[in-house]
Amino acid sequence: MRVNVLPDAAAVALAAADAICEAVRVRADARLGLPTGGTPILAYRELAHREQLDEADFSRTTVYAIDEFAGIPNATAGTNAAFYREHLRIQVQRLECPDSAAADPNAEIHGFADAMRRAGGLDLCVLGIGANGHVAFNEPGCARDSRARVVTLEDSSRRAHAGAFGGRDRVPEHGMTLGIADLLEARRVLVLAQGAHKADVVRAAIEGPQTPAVPASWLQSHSDVTWLLDQAAASPVSTPRQP
Ligand code: PGA
Repeated sequence: MRVNVLPDAAAVALAAADAICEAVRVRADARLGLPTGGTPILAYRELAHREQLDEADFSRTTVYAIDEFAGIPNATAGTNAAFYREHLRIQVQRLECPDSAAADPNAEIHGFADAMRRAGGLDLCVLGIGANGHVAFNEPGCARDSRARVVTLEDSSRRAHAGAFGGRDRVPEHGMTLGIADLLEARRVLVLAQGAHKADVVRAAIEGPQTPAVPASWLQSHSDVTWLLDQAAASPVSTPRQP
């Protein structure tokens, strides 16, 4: 595990964009898992900027959503599909996102994960970490061998999305997510965290025991995981480390 502590959120975004562009340089038809949320927005803006300058070319790249809400039309503001449309302004070959309106969300997310695996799996999976330790929608209590499935969202996760949906009560109660085992199958994992409100959970995920109570702690068992932290998110981590 590498833990890179950077001065601020802008530096995290640049480093994340560097890693994503490098994955696509090495393999133009890379398959990337990319997160939603506030954390990656600056990095996505940087990707669009580099594309405009012809410094990066994503035209053969496939992006996979790592989670999506369930039980709502995908045009609804607040869905992850809507997030990608708004914030991921790069020309990719394909953006694969589970259908939030699927009549059978379980079948939808199983089919999505199967298709991703059949296509060759993720070359790079970028993740944020929830204040409760979740990665994708793997909420506390999830096992290391959990697979793609429908989950009930924790109240803190629903509150985190209240703004986009126009109120916490409008945030769906269920989500579809790749499981921890699916995320661990990515060849490379990059985890981004910014802000003092993430500091305690970041430390637990990096330095604490691997436990269902902190889903991101399962990433310790991956052989190629890099954390990109700003100073505020890293403040209690005792030993920034390189491999
Ligand atoms: P955030 O969400 O980027 O909006 O903090 C992260 C997450 O919940 O995974």
